[in-house]
Amino acid sequence: MDTFVITGGNKLLGDVTLGGAKNVALKVLIASLLTDEPLHIQNLPLLADVFSLLEVLKSLGVTHTLDGHTLTLRNEHVQNLTVPLEVGARLRTSSMVLGPLLARYHEAKIPNPGGCRLGARPIDRHIEALRDMGASIEYNSDDGYFYGKAEKLRGTTITFPKNTHTGTETLLLAAVLAEGTTVLKNAAEEVEVDELIALLNAMGGAIHRSGPREITIVGVSKLHGATYSIMPDRNEEVTFALAAAITGGRIVVHGSRRDVLQAFLEPFTSAGGVYEAVDDTTTAYSIKGDPKPTDIVTTAHPGFMTDWQAPWAVFMTQAKGTSTIHETVFESRFSYVGELKKMGAHINFFAPEVKNPKEFYNFNWNDRVEGHHQAIQITGPSKLHNAVVDIHDLRAGATLILAALAASGESYVHGAEHVDRGYEQIETRLALLGANIRRVGQENL
Ligand code: EPU
Repeated sequence: MDTFVITGGNKLLGDVTLGGAKNVALKVLIASLLTDEPLHIQNLPLLADVFSLLEVLKSLGVTHTLDGHTLTLRNEHVQNLTVPLEVGARLRTSSMVLGPLLARYHEAKIPNPGGCRLGARPIDRHIEALRDMGASIEYNSDDGYFYGKAEKLRGTTITFPKNTHTGTETLLLAAVLAEGTTVLKNAAEEVEVDELIALLNAMGGAIHRSGPREITIVGVSKLHGATYSIMPDRNEEVTFALAAAITGGRIVVHGSRRDVLQAFLEPFTSAGGVYEAVDDTTTAYSIKGDPKPTDIVTTAHPGFMTDWQAPWAVFMTQAKGTSTIHETVFESRFSYVGELKKMGAHINFFAPEVKNPKEFYNFNWNDRVEGHHQAIQITGPSKLHNAVVDIHDLRAGATLILAALAASGESYVHGAEHVDRGYEQIETRLALLGANIRRVGQENL
């Protein structure tokens, strides 16, 4: 594991260009299983998760060539329909090959998915929905594999019991080649899902949003190749906006998608953050005065995204008064709290009163670990100081980097590989903005 060695205190100033969105790239890659023709992908982010997924696809028989941030995928020879355990368990998204493999090759064997540890993270909603389409899927707890078979996937109406972002996408990737029409009700509305719809339609699919939280997919018999450019990563944009505010600097973001960031920009400005629209795709982020406390509840679209709450917590350590964050999407996304406390943050867990938790929370209520709280209270402002801290998941990694940038002294942030899953060369880009950050291998510590 590599370590980020960071000396805090510098204001971050300058320009940065966003990379392609991780949570679009991964699904677009999987779409290559649906056609024999080449898929040309532009603006590919060079992330550890992308490379892991390319390994999964290669193991199935999809070849690729990579030239800078442009990728060409070609699936002429899929022979293997089993995702190898080691690489499959590395990222949760590998389970999404189940839909296209069943739709096109009638069989698939996928390991129980891994990925960031944000709680139990089952895929029961994906599996049930594929069963509704006629697939038979069994889980074998002896080898940890799902065994799927489907002579034919048939269009039907599927109602997801709760929101599921990748579940909706798995079904899009399956239903696009199914026989007949599939209607997804209570489907996810995240903009990343719309991007996958756009790609599948560019490949010859017939998919449209037919109502609020409803998607209609008219199955087609064949898809063709396409050229597609991945949208900039809005999670990166939020990270840089908060980096500017937390360090009292000013960062100009190129490739900005502030049009799909209202749920962030509203609390950001209420808390004292400033954004200036330089042009349609350029936004400058800074702060005016001292940050003000806020109460945040994470939800699926159109709410404040769960991916933003961890870096937001660092921002709130600098606000005068008490702020709260209530995480409702994942049952375990506070791995950073103990580490922030080592740096001098005042954070306590608390249990918000919720009338019907089984319905209210996005995760399956029975998956929670007893005694674990879903909300934190942050009391500020705290003078953050240096510490030795450990990263446990991707967004927690970005969070601890931000905290170290705001803290006094030299911090050691262990576990850089978690950050590589979702941010391309984060240390180089932050250093160009004036951060004192370097990456050190274990052997040189
Ligand atoms: N869930 C189930 N069963 C299912 C599906 C989901 O219990 O079959 C639970 C999950 O455990 C979670 C909640 O329902 O508690 C929501 O899960 P969802 O399926 O919506 O999330 P996801 O698809 O696993 C994607 C992103 C996440 C992002 C969330 C929310 C990708 C690859 N991942 O996860 O991104 O936080 O949607 O928008 O698209 C990240 O980038 O760091 C990240 C974790």
